[in-house]
Amino acid sequence: MTHSTSPNFAVQSDGTSAPTTSYYQRHIFFCLNERSNGEACCAQYDATAAFERCKLQVKAAGLAGPGQVRVNKAGCLDRCAAGPVAVVYPEAVWYSYVDASDIDEIVESHLKNGQVVQRLLTPVNLGR
Ligand code: FES
Repeated sequence: MTHSTSPNFAVQSDGTSAPTTSYYQRHIFFCLNERSNGEACCAQYDATAAFERCKLQVKAAGLAGPGQVRVNKAGCLDRCAAGPVAVVYPEAVWYSYVDASDIDEIVESHLKNGQVVQRLLTPVNLGR
């Protein structure tokens, strides 16, 4: 049996505390990495615009903030061959998106309603 000491920790039956819930319900990271050596990178697919759109859509939907959704920039996530990519935690769901409507669908379906957008899932074995 546990009882709560804060939103993020609970005291276990042995008296120790352990993390319980995330500060955010969902956290999405967009790779915005840019390479100048000609190798593939997410920035070449306008990842920054997708990130900015996601932030705006999350805010407009009233989803932004503690206990809800956080949209963050990330460097290379080492899945460049599938880029542009974004990953949603805590589900650890990876998306390869193409355009603004894909971002809108991720926000509405996954970030708002918890439903994974199957058609945008990054192929499992695509890495760098
Ligand atoms: S450059 Fe985006 S995953 Fe590597």
